[in-house]
Amino acid sequence: MYYIDIMTLFPDTVGDVLSESILGRAQERDILHIDTHQIRDYTLNKQKQVDDYPYGGGRGAVLQADPLYRCWEHICTRYEKRPHTIFLSPCGKTFTQEDAKRLAWEQTHLVLVCGHYEGVDQRFIDECVDEEISLGDFVLTGGEIAAMAVADAVCRLVPGVLSDAECFENESHWDGLLEYPQYSRPSLWHGRAIPEVLSTGDHAKIARWRRKQSLLRTRQRRPDLYEKLDLSSKADQKLLDELERELSRPPLPQPVECRPTREGDLNDMEIILAQAKALLIPIGQWNSSYPAREDFESDMTRGECYVLTCGGAVGGFFTLSTQPETGYDAITDGKWSSDQPYAVIHRCAVAQQWHGSGLADRMIAECERLALAQGLEWLRVDTHRKNKAMQSLIRRHGFQYRGNVLVDVPHPYDPRRVAYEKRLRHPASNVKKDLRGLPASLDNSSSNDII
Ligand SMILES: C[S@@+](CC[C@H](N)C(=O)[O-])C[C@H]1O[C@@H](n2cnc3c(N)ncnc32)[C@H](O)[C@@H]1O
Repeated sequence: MYYIDIMTLFPDTVGDVLSESILGRAQERDILHIDTHQIRDYTLNKQKQVDDYPYGGGRGAVLQADPLYRCWEHICTRYEKRPHTIFLSPCGKTFTQEDAKRLAWEQTHLVLVCGHYEGVDQRFIDECVDEEISLGDFVLTGGEIAAMAVADAVCRLVPGVLSDAECFENESHWDGLLEYPQYSRPSLWHGRAIPEVLSTGDHAKIARWRRKQSLLRTRQRRPDLYEKLDLSSKADQKLLDELERELSRPPLPQPVECRPTREGDLNDMEIILAQAKALLIPIGQWNSSYPAREDFESDMTRGECYVLTCGGAVGGFFTLSTQPETGYDAITDGKWSSDQPYAVIHRCAVAQQWHGSGLADRMIAECERLALAQGLEWLRVDTHRKNKAMQSLIRRHGFQYRGNVLVDVPHPYDPRRVAYEKRLRHPASNVKKDLRGLPASLDNSSSNDII
């Protein structure tokens, strides 16, 4: 059993908070015993006054040593061993997770003394207090919030309070790092998708992603903690190299806009096309003669070709066709969810320099917006089974695999494609805003821009 006694002028408030939830259940199971004590009950005067003017003058009042001492002594007489006594004070050492560990594992009984008014008579501190703990570099009205924070942080580390040590070992400050971002269902919320890696079921990959995010957060938010970390392992060095590369990517020039392609865009598009072909020809998605400038020219004539511009320059393109796709009716190994009219995403790519910037996410969001604006509720897309980047991107946006289709490509190219679809819903105005502001992901596995 771990014992905590709290000396306070507000025992009911403190007791109520600490008997809720996990700490409450641990007390019911006799793992913890938390008691609160009204300091006023230990005065010898009728008015139960516990404070008086400070010697030397000045504003406010000081908690007197005697009622504090009598309260503390009463607690001590109930136990064999003198308890470890802590005075909560802005003058104390700032509380950390290391202190929580130390107090949970090296002590079995704490007395927490809450000050009030201007503070506490120093003689009580000198006689009874083993250490002074501060919650941070600010001043509270009383020590209660600090005592509750210390009690909570200590108690959850007491063996048996949480179901498993893993519950606290992966948390912020355990090993000097801040925790990685957490996500729960649904996988797509307000147009914001979870990082794809989290739904792969690949535990090694997920652990790696989490460590990388923890390193990044700690470095960005707490350089003081970051500089104390030992990151000499090969695995960490590799993660740091990756982070370095990702962070050195320039941010997308603003504004990022989507508009129908103009004649003058074709030269810029051809540069992006060549970059994309270098990646997509080897996996068999595109070939040396497809797509060609002429394909984009016909898309433009039908008004189906769009560019994404970043700070005015073309950063990517796509075609959004509303023509039914001939090969789609003969889908195998599955079926489409609906035979209602649909839009299809074709021939899209993002400039190499913007890979991983979130521009591909924006592109998918624009496809959805444009399809809905044309009254279409279904969006389809096919891709080569080896095009993991595209599959990762569309799955992240809620597209679902529907089966296999064959596309029209000349011999000897591979016509087999995997087919995906998504049912679109008219977004509320704030949802649209979310899509526009979709953040760039720092995760390689979830931000691939070549299709
Ligand atoms: C208004 S404060 C007194 C501040 C004191 N006059 C000073 O300047 O250091 C009253 C009580 O609140 C508690 N308290 C205030 N700030 C705190 C902090 N940062 N951490 C822990 N306890 C704090 C202490 O118990 C303190 O005695």
